[in-house]
Amino acid sequence: MRIPLVSWFFFCLNIAIFFSMAALSVSGQCQSHQQQLLLGFKSSLNSSFSVKLVKWNQGTDCCSWGGITCDASGRVIQLDLSNQWLHGDINNSNSLFRLQHLQHLNLAYNRFHGSLPEFHHDSSLRNLVLSGTNFSGSLPESIGNLVNLTKQDLSYCNFSGAIPSSISKLHQLVYLDLSSNNFTGRIQPFDLSKNLAHIDLSYNKLTGKIESFKWEGLQNLTYIDLSHNSFSGSIPSSLVALPSVKMLLLSNNQFGGEVPGFPKGGQSFLDTLDLSYNQLEGRIPAYVFELSRLNVLLLSSNKFNGTIWLGDIQKLVNLTQLDLSHNNLFVNATGSYSTVSSFPKIASLKLASCKLNVFPPLENQSRLAFLDLSENQISGEVPNWIWNASYGLQHLNLSFNQLEGLQKPYQMPNLSVLDLHSNKLGGNIPSLPTSAIYLDYSRNSFASSLPNNIGNYLSYTLFFSLSNNGLTGVIPKSICDASYLQVLDLSKNNLSGEIPKCLFGRKVNVGVLNLSGNNLSGELPDAFPSNCSIQTLDVNGNALQGKIPESLANCKSLEVLNLGNNHINDIFPSHLKSIASLRILVLRSNEFHGKISCPANKVPWPKLQIVDIADNRFSGTLPNKCLKTWEVMMTDEGEARLNVGYLQFQVLRLSGLYYQDGITVTNKGLTMEFVKILTLFTSIDLSCNKFEGPIPEVIGELKALHFLNLSHNALTGKIPPSLGNLTQLESLDLSNNNLTGSIPQQLVNLNFLAVLNFSYNQLEGSIPAVKQFATFSNDSYEGNKGLCGVPFTKKCNEAISEASFKNNAGLRGLPTNSRTGNHVDWNFISVEIGFVSGIGAVIFPLMFCKRWRMRYYKRTDRVVYKFFPKLDPRNRNRRTISHWTPGRRL
Ligand SMILES: *[C@@H]1O[C@H](CO)[C@@H](O)[C@H](O)[C@H]1NC(C)=O
Ligand SMILES: *[C@@H]1O[C@H](CO)[C@@H](O)[C@H](O)[C@H]1NC(C)=O
Ligand SMILES: *[C@@H]1O[C@H](CO)[C@@H](O)[C@H](O)[C@H]1NC(C)=O
Ligand SMILES: *[C@@H]1O[C@H](CO)[C@@H](O)[C@H](O)[C@H]1NC(C)=O
Ligand SMILES: *[C@@H]1O[C@H](CO)[C@@H](O)[C@H](O)[C@H]1NC(C)=O
Ligand SMILES: *[C@@H]1O[C@H](CO)[C@@H](O)[C@H](O)[C@H]1NC(C)=O
Ligand SMILES: *[C@@H]1O[C@H](CO)[C@@H](O)[C@H](O)[C@H]1NC(C)=O
Ligand SMILES: *[C@@H]1O[C@H](CO)[C@@H](O)[C@H](O)[C@H]1NC(C)=O
Ligand SMILES: *[C@@H]1O[C@H](CO)[C@@H](O)[C@H](O)[C@H]1NC(C)=O
Repeated sequence: MRIPLVSWFFFCLNIAIFFSMAALSVSGQCQSHQQQLLLGFKSSLNSSFSVKLVKWNQGTDCCSWGGITCDASGRVIQLDLSNQWLHGDINNSNSLFRLQHLQHLNLAYNRFHGSLPEFHHDSSLRNLVLSGTNFSGSLPESIGNLVNLTKQDLSYCNFSGAIPSSISKLHQLVYLDLSSNNFTGRIQPFDLSKNLAHIDLSYNKLTGKIESFKWEGLQNLTYIDLSHNSFSGSIPSSLVALPSVKMLLLSNNQFGGEVPGFPKGGQSFLDTLDLSYNQLEGRIPAYVFELSRLNVLLLSSNKFNGTIWLGDIQKLVNLTQLDLSHNNLFVNATGSYSTVSSFPKIASLKLASCKLNVFPPLENQSRLAFLDLSENQISGEVPNWIWNASYGLQHLNLSFNQLEGLQKPYQMPNLSVLDLHSNKLGGNIPSLPTSAIYLDYSRNSFASSLPNNIGNYLSYTLFFSLSNNGLTGVIPKSICDASYLQVLDLSKNNLSGEIPKCLFGRKVNVGVLNLSGNNLSGELPDAFPSNCSIQTLDVNGNALQGKIPESLANCKSLEVLNLGNNHINDIFPSHLKSIASLRILVLRSNEFHGKISCPANKVPWPKLQIVDIADNRFSGTLPNKCLKTWEVMMTDEGEARLNVGYLQFQVLRLSGLYYQDGITVTNKGLTMEFVKILTLFTSIDLSCNKFEGPIPEVIGELKALHFLNLSHNALTGKIPPSLGNLTQLESLDLSNNNLTGSIPQQLVNLNFLAVLNFSYNQLEGSIPAVKQFATFSNDSYEGNKGLCGVPFTKKCNEAISEASFKNNAGLRGLPTNSRTGNHVDWNFISVEIGFVSGIGAVIFPLMFCKRWRMRYYKRTDRVVYKFFPKLDPRNRNRRTISHWTPGRRL
C-alpha cells in the first residue's frame, strides 16, 4: 500500500508549495528570545547541508529566515525544516519545543536521533510532522498535553514501546499516522478523537484486540490502516458499520472469526478493502459483493469457504484489483459471462487455489496487467484470447493446473512473467514471449528439442526453466546470446551433447546453472571467468568425463557444487579451497581417487553443510584435518537456528522471485530429494570408498551433524565415544567396515537417532538396551559375531551362533526402523521444516534404492513425505511443491 519514494516526492512538492506561500505571509518583527531559541537549536545540530539553516544568523530578523512563519506580532507560528539534511540529537536542546506560539512543526526527513523531549502544557502545537526522522525511544506520555493537535505524523521513525494512552486526550486529532515504527505491546483501550479522519498504525508490532477502541461515532473516519501488526480477535462490527470509511486495510494480522454483518440499509463509501493474510473464516458475506464503489478487494490467504459465483463479483463495475487466492473457496466461473459483462476496469486478478475449472471470461479486458490462476483445476487448452485479452498483460501465472496445450493460432504478447510450470503441456515448446524476464515451463511434458535460435527470444530473460520435461537434442550455442540470464534450469530432460563453453564467459554471469539429470557428455568447460559469480552449479546425473576445471576456483560465490553421478576422473578438488562460500559439495558416484588432503591452519570451507563424496575410489585415512575446518557443522543448534533459511538465489532484488536450490541426499539405501535445502541441514557421506584406519575422535566436534555415513570402507579401530556428542544425529551408518571393540555407552544419548547401522563389523559386547537404542532391530547389528543382548535372542553370557543372523540376510540394506516399519522417522527435520516454512506443504519425494514401491507418509499437517521407487517412469512428471513461488512470502 505504501510507496515511500512516491510519498517522499509529494512531500517535497508540498514543501515547495508551502514555502512559496510562507514567503508571502512573513510579517512582524521577530521577538528576540525566540531568535535565541532558534539559534540554540541550530547550534546543537550539524546543518552543513541545510539550505535553510545556513542563512539563520544573529544579524537578521528571524521572521525572514527560511522555514519560519511569524504572525503579525512577530511570534513564530510555523517551522518547516523538512528535508534539510539535519542531523544530531534534538534532545540536547529542546529549545524548539519552548516556542510557545508554534502551531505547525515539520521536521520530516532529517536524521535526528535520540528520543523526543517532553511536551509542556502551554504548547499550542496543531501539526506535528516528524516522519522519516530517526527518533527512537518511547513516545512521551506528555504528548497528551498537546490538546490542540490535529495532525500527528510520526511515521517511518524508530519509536518503540507502547502507544501512550494519553493520546485519548487529543480530542482535536484528525490525522494520526504512527506507521512503520517499532511500537509494541497490547493496544490499550483508549478513546479515539471524534474528529479522526485518518488513522494509520500499520507496520508495527502491536498486539491485542481492536475491539477495545470505541469505533462508534467516528463519523469522519475515512482511512483506517492497521495492517502488518499482530492484532487478533474478530473484526468489530462497529468498525464495519462506520459510514464514511473509504479505505479499510487490516491485512497481515491474526484476525479470526467471521467477517461481521453490515447494517441493513447502510450506505458504504468503501473503496478499498484489504483483509488478506489473516485467519478469517466462514463465508465471505454477500454484502461485500454489493459494495458498488469497491475498487480494490483483497481477501487472499484466509480460511474463507463456500462457493462464489464469479458473475456476482462482476457487479462491482469499478473493481481494479481482486485477490481471492489461497482460501478454501470454490469460485464458479461457469456461465458468468453470458449474463453480465465482465469486469470493465480490472487490472489485477488473482484467483490462485480457488478450485476453478474453467478460465474466467476475460476476453475484452483491455486493462488487465496481472493474472494469477495458479493452483486450480483448469484443464484443456489455454484459450488464445488470453494473449489478446490485454495489450498490457505483464504477469501471467497458470502453474499447477491440468492444461494440455495452447490453442492456436497464438501470438505471445509483451509479458514480463510467464509461469506455465506443473501442467500437462506437451509437444513442441511454444514460441516464447520476447520481452519476458521470467519464464518457467518446467514440470510439463514438452518433448521437442530446443530451437536453434532460442537465444533470440531470451534477450531480457533473467530466469529460464524447462526442467522436468522430455526435451531431446543438444543445448544450442545461441543460448549464450541471452545476455542477462541469471538462472538456467534445464535439469531432468534427455539433452545430450556437450555443455556450451560460451555459457560461462558472458557479460552477465549466470548465477544458477542446473543441467542435472540429462545425458550430457564431454568435459565441464574450463572457461569460468575471473569474475565468475555462479552460486549453484549442478550437473549431477550426466555422462561428463575429465577433470574438475581449474578455472572453477574463480567462482568465489559458489555455494552448491553438485557433480555427482558422472564419470569424472580426478583427485579431491583442494584447488577449490579458497571458495569460502561453499555449502554443498557432491562428488558422489564418479571416479575420484587418491587421498583427501587439507592444508593445516587454513579455513577451507567454514560453511560446508552437505558433503557427499560416496561411491568413489578415495583412499587413505579419513580427513580429520578437513573435518576440523567445517565450522558450520560445529555450531550449536540454537545458534544455527538464528540464521535459518533456505538456500536460494534471488533473481531480482525485491521482486520476490527466487530460485530454490534442491538436492538429493542418499542415506542408507534411501534417496531423498529435498526440494528446498534448509541451511540447518547437515550431512556427511563418505561411504563406499577405500578409506582405512580409525574413525577420528574429532568427528565428535561436528555437533550440528544430522546424517553420518561411513559405511562400506575399510575402517578399523574402535567406535569413538565422542560420537555420543553428536546430539542432533538422526542417522548413523558405520556398517561394512572392520570396526572392533564394543558399542560405546555414550551413544545412548543420541535422542534423535532414527537410523542406526553397525552391521558387518567386528564389534563385540552387549548392545545398549536403553533409550533410543531400545528401538532398533536385529539388522542394525547383524554380521557382528561378538554382539549380544536385545534385540538378539542370545543373552550376553551365551555364545552367539552365526545361525541367528542368517534369517535376516535378505533384508540387508533396507531402511528399517522398528517404530515405523519401513518408514524412516524424520521427525526432527520435519519439525524444522514446519518451523521455517510457515506456508503450505513441503513434499520430500523419497526413493528406495533396493525395493521398488510407492508410499505416502504424512507426519504433520505441514509436512508430507513421498516415497518413490527409483527409476519409475511415473516419477518424471511427479508433482511436488513448486520449487519457487513468485511473489509469495516465505
Ligand atoms: C556534518 O556532517 C557532515 C557529513 O556527515 C560531516 O562531513 C561534517 O564534518 C559535519 N560537520 C560538523 C561540524 O560536525
Ligand atoms: C487550544 O485552542 C483553543 C482555541 O483555539 C485556545 O483557546 C487554547 O488556548 C489552545 N490551547 C493551548 C494549550 O494552546
Ligand atoms: C524493535 O523492538 C524490539 C524489542 O524492543 C527490538 O529487539 C528490535 O531490535 C527493534 N527493531 C527495530 C527495527 O528497531
Ligand atoms: C467532521 O467533519 C466535518 C466537516 O469537515 C466537521 O464539521 C465536523 O466537526 C467533524 N467532526 C465530527 C465529529 O463530525
Ligand atoms: C465453513 O467454515 C465454517 C467456519 O469455520 C464452518 O463452520 C463451516 O462448516 C464451513 N463450511 C463448509 C462448507 O466447509
Ligand atoms: C465508478 O467510477 C466512476 C468514475 O470514477 C463513477 O462515476 C461511478 O459512480 C462509479 N460507480 C459506482 C457504482 O460507484
Ligand atoms: C456454476 O454456476 C452455473 C451458473 O449459475 C451453474 O449452472 C452451475 O451449476 C454452477 N456449477 C457448480 C459446480 O456449482
Ligand atoms: C577385515 O579384516 C579382515 C582381517 O583382519 C580382512 O580379512 C578383511 O578383508 C577386512 N574386511 C574389510 C571389509 O576390510
Ligand atoms: C563431549 O563434549 C564435551 C564438551 O564439549 C567434552 O568435554 C567431552 O570430552 C566430549 N566427549 C567425548 C567423549 O569426546
